[in-house]
Amino acid sequence: MDKLVIYGGKRLKGIVEINGAKNAALPIMAGTLLVEGEFIIHNIPLVRDVFTMSEVLETLGAKVKIEDHTAIIDTRGAVGYEAPYELVKKMRASYYVLGPLVSRLGRARVSLPGGCAIGARPVDLHIKGLRELSVKVNLIHGYIEAEAERVIGNEIFLEGVKGPSVGATINTMMAAVRCSGKTIIDGAAMEPEVVDVANFLRTMGAEINGAGTRRIEITGVKKLNPVEYTIIPDRIEAGTYAVSGVITNGDIVLRNVIPEHLDAVLKKLEETGAVIERRGREIRVKGQGRIRSTDIRVSPYPGFPTDMQAQFMALLCIADGVSVITETIFENRFMHVPELMRMGADLTIDGQNVVVRGKPSLSGAPVMASDLRASAALVIAGLVATGKTEVSRVYHIDRGYEKVEEKLKRLGAEIWRVRE
Ligand code: UD1
Repeated sequence: MDKLVIYGGKRLKGIVEINGAKNAALPIMAGTLLVEGEFIIHNIPLVRDVFTMSEVLETLGAKVKIEDHTAIIDTRGAVGYEAPYELVKKMRASYYVLGPLVSRLGRARVSLPGGCAIGARPVDLHIKGLRELSVKVNLIHGYIEAEAERVIGNEIFLEGVKGPSVGATINTMMAAVRCSGKTIIDGAAMEPEVVDVANFLRTMGAEINGAGTRRIEITGVKKLNPVEYTIIPDRIEAGTYAVSGVITNGDIVLRNVIPEHLDAVLKKLEETGAVIERRGREIRVKGQGRIRSTDIRVSPYPGFPTDMQAQFMALLCIADGVSVITETIFENRFMHVPELMRMGADLTIDGQNVVVRGKPSLSGAPVMASDLRASAALVIAGLVATGKTEVSRVYHIDRGYEKVEEKLKRLGAEIWRVRE
């Protein structure tokens, strides 16, 4: 298992290219199963989850070729309908094949993903979405088995106790594109990735209105076409580098971003004292001395993203003052707390809140990554800690960040990968 070794204390400076959004690429790759033909998808991030999704598609009979950052996906031979446990356990998002397979083949068998490090993460809303479209769904032998002679449009209220679900909104939308009649999804997730999937489906010929609002309307169409499409930039990757710039008191430019997707994150960075300049598809982020404390409450888009919570905690560990971070979406998303404390952070967990008492510095230590965004937080802490930090279990960060150590090195960080 690889680890990242970091010597902290270098100011980051320069330009960093942001890749395509992993969380849009995964459902869009799955969405190619909706129709037979050859798709060309640009701005694909070269991260492990994308390669796992390629494996899922290949298991179903599709051919996937990824060159540079373009995927050519040929779904002409894709007649399989089962996503096995071996793949789904590697990546929950494998369940995105459910909607497209039900729509095209009238059946799907997808392993139940189970829990993960950040919480129980049920799939009840995915199942609800399908059932309301007249799909028969059974849970048997650890699998979701879905079958439908016809997908029939319906009005669906999809919000769960924890709020809207990105995954269930997208899966239901993909299942519904060829429904008879009309489908309305109320309580839909509004994340930019939902909008990107809707735009991809519309390019294919789907009739979808309201993506990006709480109410999405889908009128079933008979025919869809394979298309060429470009994925939006990854707002979470961009946010992670922005925090890296601020924590090191640096001056960096994020290239290939959609600044409005980062509004909540950039506003919080400004509250910590950073100077942010937005120019077209670029954002300049400048640190301005000691970081100021601020409170953060995670909420669905357009609120502050749960996927940036861990990275901001690393930042606030060295702020001047006390901050409170409230996680409202995933009940167990504080796995980075004990690791940051090994680096000298003063953190107290109280239910869904973490009280962060800022300190002037952190000290490097061996730490362990537990999930994707937690590992990003540990790398960020390592960039500013005194001495040497070793982040083990780097495969977590490779799931969602392309060439993280190379990008940080180019910005001036002292970081390298040790292959074990
Ligand atoms: C997606 C993102 C993930 C991000 C999350 C929230 C992908 C591949 N992953 O995950 O990075 O952190 O959105 O922005 O895009 N829930 C239920 N029942 C369900 C589904 C979800 O109760 O059937 C709950 C979840 O446990 C959670 C909340 O709803 O508490 C939101 O989860 P959801 O938006 O579905 O997250 P994902 O789509 O899994």
